[in-house]
Amino acid sequence: MILLKNTEDIRLLHRANIMVAETLEELRSHIKPGITTAELDRIAEEYIRRHKGVPAFKGYRGYPATLCISINEEVVHGIPGKRALKKGDIVSLDIGVLLDGYYGDAAITVGVGAINSEAERLMRVTEESLYLGIEKATEGNRLSDVSIAVQTHVEAAGFSVVRDFVGHGIGRNLHEDPQIPNFYTPAAYNPRLKEGMVFALEPMVNQGTYKVKILQDGWTAVTRDQKLSAHFEHTIAITSNGPIILSRLEAPQGSAAATGT
Ligand code: MF3
Ligand code: CO
Repeated sequence: MILLKNTEDIRLLHRANIMVAETLEELRSHIKPGITTAELDRIAEEYIRRHKGVPAFKGYRGYPATLCISINEEVVHGIPGKRALKKGDIVSLDIGVLLDGYYGDAAITVGVGAINSEAERLMRVTEESLYLGIEKATEGNRLSDVSIAVQTHVEAAGFSVVRDFVGHGIGRNLHEDPQIPNFYTPAAYNPRLKEGMVFALEPMVNQGTYKVKILQDGWTAVTRDQKLSAHFEHTIAITSNGPIILSRLEAPQGSAAATGT
């Protein structure tokens, strides 16, 4: 069942998601060769707690950290630790925050120093696919319109969309219905989109095969062919005026400005 949010719910979801966006901005300034993923995790946790939020992933199904940090061939759910970032790495940072009973969730992928042009293109196409999906998140469209927009852009660029992880509804729970695949399956549940739905859209895009496997730690998903993967995520609200991106800092919302076009 998809839980619809009212204006007050959306205001509170926006606050949680602004904190997510601010934490990501804070982390961005620390992305340099030599910093360890555990240090980034500590910076994020301190930022969130200082602002009276709670890290949402920590303890979720036993997940041990504030951030998921996934480097290069790691797709999602990389656990922070002693590993240091190196020049040329691409690093995805995924954060969830609980604030006043509402969840925020977003992710970015960033390069460490200069990265090669194919890695750059992978990141760009992944972020573009997120914004193209967001543009389709309008009243009256179906969920599959979002999925198809993401998949079409990714595959036209010669990349692949991960099948084993999907986006999700979000609200007073980190994960709510519906699941939001970044690919089209004719048989999938395919509701019409309505005002008051709030979604975390999160394309995970691989350079090579879409197939992934989970490492021995029980969390880290990596590409089966060891090629690169990128991940971008925004939490959005569907309104009668179109989608609003809740997890970003800039003021302009609604219309073309909100979708980065
Ligand atoms: N952003 C991911 C999601 O929405 C990460 C959460 S998984 C966790 O599903 F276990 F790390 F919390
Ligand atoms: Co998510």
